[in-house]
Amino acid sequence: MLPWSNYLRQSLYNRLLVILLMTIYQDLTGETGGVQAWTYNYSVNQNLDWDSARQWCRQDYTDMVAIQNQEEIVYLNTMLPKNSQYYWIGLRKVNEMWTWTGTNKTLTKEAENWAVGEPNNIGDGQDCVEIYIKRGKDEAKWNDERCTKKKGALCYTASCSEHCCSAHAECLENIGNYTCQCDPGFKGPRCQEAVECDTVSDPEQGSVNCDHPHGLFAFNSSCQFHCARGYQLQGASQLFCQATGFWDHPAAQCQVKQCPALDSGPHRGTMNCSNPIALHSYNSTCEFNCDLGFDLIGPDRIQCDHTGQWTGNVSTCTVVRCGPLSPPAMGNMSCVDPLGASSFTSSCGFSCEEGYLLRGDTNLTCLSTGQWTNHTPACEPLQCDILTSPPHGSLNCSGLHGQFHYGSQCLFSCEEGFLLNGLADTECTSLGTWSRRAPLCLAQQCDTLTSPPHGSINCSDLHGQFHYGSQCLFSCEEGFLLNGLADTEYTNLTCLSTGQWTNHTPACEQYIMNEFSYGSTCTLECEKGFVLVGTNSTHCSSLGYWSHALPVCLALQCDILTSPPHGSMNCSGLHGQFHYGSQCLFSCEEGFLLNGLTECTSLGTWSRRAPLCLVVRCGPLSPPAMGNMSCVDPLGASSFTSSCGFSCEEGYLLRGDTNLTCLSTGQWTNHTPACELVQCENLLPRQPSPPPTPSSTPPPTQGPFMNCSHSLGEFSFSSLCLFSCSKGYYLNGTEELSCTSEGQWSDLVPSCQRNINSVQESSRMLVYAVVGAASAAGLLLLLGLGMLAAKKLRKKGKRDELKTCISYYMCNLVTKLLHQSLGRKCIACDTIPNGSSFFHL
Ligand SMILES: *[C@@H]1O[C@H](CO)[C@@H](O)[C@H](O)[C@H]1NC(C)=O
Ligand SMILES: *[C@@H]1O[C@H](CO)[C@@H](O)[C@H](O)[C@H]1NC(C)=O
Ligand SMILES: *[C@@H]1O[C@H](CO)[C@@H](O)[C@H](O)[C@H]1NC(C)=O
Ligand SMILES: *[C@@H]1O[C@H](CO)[C@@H](O)[C@H](O)[C@H]1NC(C)=O
Ligand SMILES: *[C@@H]1O[C@H](CO)[C@@H](O)[C@H](O)[C@H]1NC(C)=O
Ligand SMILES: *[C@@H]1O[C@H](CO)[C@@H](O)[C@H](O)[C@H]1NC(C)=O
Ligand SMILES: *[C@@H]1O[C@H](CO)[C@@H](O)[C@H](O)[C@H]1NC(C)=O
Ligand SMILES: *[C@@H]1O[C@H](CO)[C@@H](O)[C@H](O)[C@H]1NC(C)=O
Ligand SMILES: *[C@@H]1O[C@H](CO)[C@@H](O)[C@H](O)[C@H]1NC(C)=O
Ligand SMILES: *[C@@H]1O[C@H](CO)[C@@H](O)[C@H](O)[C@H]1NC(C)=O
Ligand SMILES: *[C@@H]1O[C@H](CO)[C@@H](O)[C@H](O)[C@H]1NC(C)=O
Ligand SMILES: *[C@@H]1O[C@H](CO)[C@@H](O)[C@H](O)[C@H]1NC(C)=O
Repeated sequence: MLPWSNYLRQSLYNRLLVILLMTIYQDLTGETGGVQAWTYNYSVNQNLDWDSARQWCRQDYTDMVAIQNQEEIVYLNTMLPKNSQYYWIGLRKVNEMWTWTGTNKTLTKEAENWAVGEPNNIGDGQDCVEIYIKRGKDEAKWNDERCTKKKGALCYTASCSEHCCSAHAECLENIGNYTCQCDPGFKGPRCQEAVECDTVSDPEQGSVNCDHPHGLFAFNSSCQFHCARGYQLQGASQLFCQATGFWDHPAAQCQVKQCPALDSGPHRGTMNCSNPIALHSYNSTCEFNCDLGFDLIGPDRIQCDHTGQWTGNVSTCTVVRCGPLSPPAMGNMSCVDPLGASSFTSSCGFSCEEGYLLRGDTNLTCLSTGQWTNHTPACEPLQCDILTSPPHGSLNCSGLHGQFHYGSQCLFSCEEGFLLNGLADTECTSLGTWSRRAPLCLAQQCDTLTSPPHGSINCSDLHGQFHYGSQCLFSCEEGFLLNGLADTEYTNLTCLSTGQWTNHTPACEQYIMNEFSYGSTCTLECEKGFVLVGTNSTHCSSLGYWSHALPVCLALQCDILTSPPHGSMNCSGLHGQFHYGSQCLFSCEEGFLLNGLTECTSLGTWSRRAPLCLVVRCGPLSPPAMGNMSCVDPLGASSFTSSCGFSCEEGYLLRGDTNLTCLSTGQWTNHTPACELVQCENLLPRQPSPPPTPSSTPPPTQGPFMNCSHSLGEFSFSSLCLFSCSKGYYLNGTEELSCTSEGQWSDLVPSCQRNINSVQESSRMLVYAVVGAASAAGLLLLLGLGMLAAKKLRKKGKRDELKTCISYYMCNLVTKLLHQSLGRKCIACDTIPNGSSFFHL
């Protein structure tokens, strides 16, 4: 085999060698997926089997040709010289598949260019393909042939090499040269430059981080945005530089984080917001303040944080509270609370009960500090003047609030021999004054003594002349002796605490020997009611003295009495309260009876027992018929202060007082009330309405007929009335009315309405006859009228009406007459208010 260079020289020389240089630019998207523009070289006079042909091609060229498209086929058919054996192409059956040997790709259906009836595989082993160049028939079509046959070699040489284009391109063959087809995103002759996008710069309040695999902001550069604290991205966080030279998204921006809007500050307070960046956004702060008297509940300021949340809620203002007040003991309190109980601006007024004095402020107000203007005032009992014991007396005071305060009672008492000149007790009243003046202790007074005739008296007084403690010394003129007794030259009388002198006043008598001479004995006794104290006899001694002083007669004492319950007692007597001769008068309080008198007799006993105060009685009450009574008897049945309440059973009405009280006079405040049956309005049957104008129709309504039962009384509670209508009419309303316990009928009185389908029936006449005065003559007239009515009634179809007045007792007669003459049934004779009657049919 000749080398290719020799063959070429030989061909040139022989002018047989045609060297064809041909370039076909093929579509990049052709079936083979590569550039198929070749430089073709071929053998002309040297035919080879397929394998040798391929080897020949690969020795000096790239490979055996791979036919890819119609243009190439047409071109080859035109340019190649005719070879009777035709040419091999680089298509061979591998594993029963037609395969391009250069690219090891299977033949696709679209690229097939078989001659008619091929591949026919005649014989066996037709595994290689020839191209019919300039054959005349099936030109440039393919045929399968045995590979051992010898044919021309058809070769190609490629222009592209590894270094022709950059890594971002595909090398495309064209006629005698190549072009670099850039991958998307690349440009330049060798596609070495990446397409550039716009420069991206840091957003406000943020930053951007970019990755540039193929150059600054060039194809496939990616940029990541970040925002400062408190800001958030607006837009895509990542940008990607596309092959088009544009970013896939617009550049992002950083927007300040927004907190929820705060519409208003706290009620009763204010909100002051500062917004350094924007309203209610990151770093905005709001301060809360409350009005005077209100406390802030919650934080005093909140801030919008970097996450867009407020650090707290809007605080609230609550009214300042002062703490509850309570009224002082024995006092009252009344508060006005405009903003709530015991809260700021609340004010409370204080007052004391009778007999107590307010100490402190009468009115407290709750301040904004939560304090009352002062502490709660106190009610102190009124103070009366301080009392001191009277001379010769003592004082004993006691009371709930101290000796001399409201309600205190003081009792005065005197030493022996002294008497109170007034009542013993006094009380400190609600006005702060004593109920009466303090009494004095006055010395008991003894009878006034006078000098006896022929004698003189010489008294020494401790508590006043002839008062308790006074001592009086009697002496007689010469020749006279006291009481004529020689041995009593003077006598010493002392005024006792009882107000009595220790002795009788002596007399100065001339000494007479006969009667009271030596040996005389005197016996003394006391009057009735008095008891003798001392010795009841004395005798004249030999010395002319009486053996014993004269005795004293003291009044007898009766038992000490006390006031009866509900009464008082007043005792007085010459010799003391409960002594002989005393009289005690008893009296009773209002509402109690029996006054009486008792006297201390000479026997030292009371003339009668102390009476009792008996309560006044009013006599028994009984409940009214159909009624009930309930009494409260604080002092006994039907007695003074008893009170009785009255009520009636259902359907009855109380007439009179609901409550009677027993007076101190023994009388009830009123007489017992009565229970009266509840009355309903009297029911009168309805008057038929006057006939309507078209005279052919009968009256539209027919008064209902009423049947009442009165279990308790005429048209009274529980009365029941039944209503019905005559034939041809129906009842509009209730059939039954009952009288309720309120005196109302249970429903409205019904009316009778004409049945629509019995017009004929109801068109018959309704006759009213009202008759005035009844008389014998009237009866005759009536008979005539009755006949006339009958006659008129017989004229059917013509509506007529007859009205005549008759007296009530004539009514039945007339209806009877009409009944006979017309055969109609009388329904009722009713009384009408003026005494006349009417009847209807
Ligand atoms: C193949 O063809 C090319 C281009 O026409 C040419 O330069 C070359 O010499 C040829 N090769 C041979 C061996 O003829
Ligand atoms: C061609 O492809 C076939 C199967 O597709 C494979 O078996 C064979 O090894 C390939 N040949 C070459 C040279 O790549
Ligand atoms: C072949 O193409 C390359 C790139 O397109 C170009 O630089 C070169 O000049 C071309 N060569 C010829 C001989 O045209
Ligand atoms: C461009 O980026 C895409 C997606 O990240 C990737 O698949 C592709 O390989 C990249 N191309 C280049 C040339 O870097
Ligand atoms: C609100 O607060 C600002 C700053 O603390 C202060 O200057 C301004 O007077 C306040 N406004 C009111 C109405 O309190
Ligand atoms: C927000 O407030 C903080 C602290 O008060 C300050 O450091 C920061 O600069 C403020 N941010 C802005 C964007 O004003
Ligand atoms: C704010 O109020 C809501 C609803 O009343 C409550 O659920 C939340 O806990 C409050 N937040 C704060 C910070 O007090
Ligand atoms: C308490 O005093 C205030 C102011 O003097 C007055 O307005 C208020 O009515 C008073 N309240 C009472 C309960 O008296
Ligand atoms: C009179 O009697 C009293 C008491 O009995 C006695 O104290 C007093 O001294 C007497 N006076 C004379 C003058 O005897
Ligand atoms: C006098 O008293 C004595 C005893 O003291 C008595 O027995 C006598 O009866 C009394 N005489 C008269 C008259 O009462
Ligand atoms: C009757 O009236 C008096 C005074 O109004 C009252 O105190 C009493 O409780 C009443 N009694 C009854 C039984 O209602
Ligand atoms: C029934 O009576 C009522 C009230 O009296 C009245 O309004 C109503 O029209 C009557 N109905 C008929 C059908 O007449």
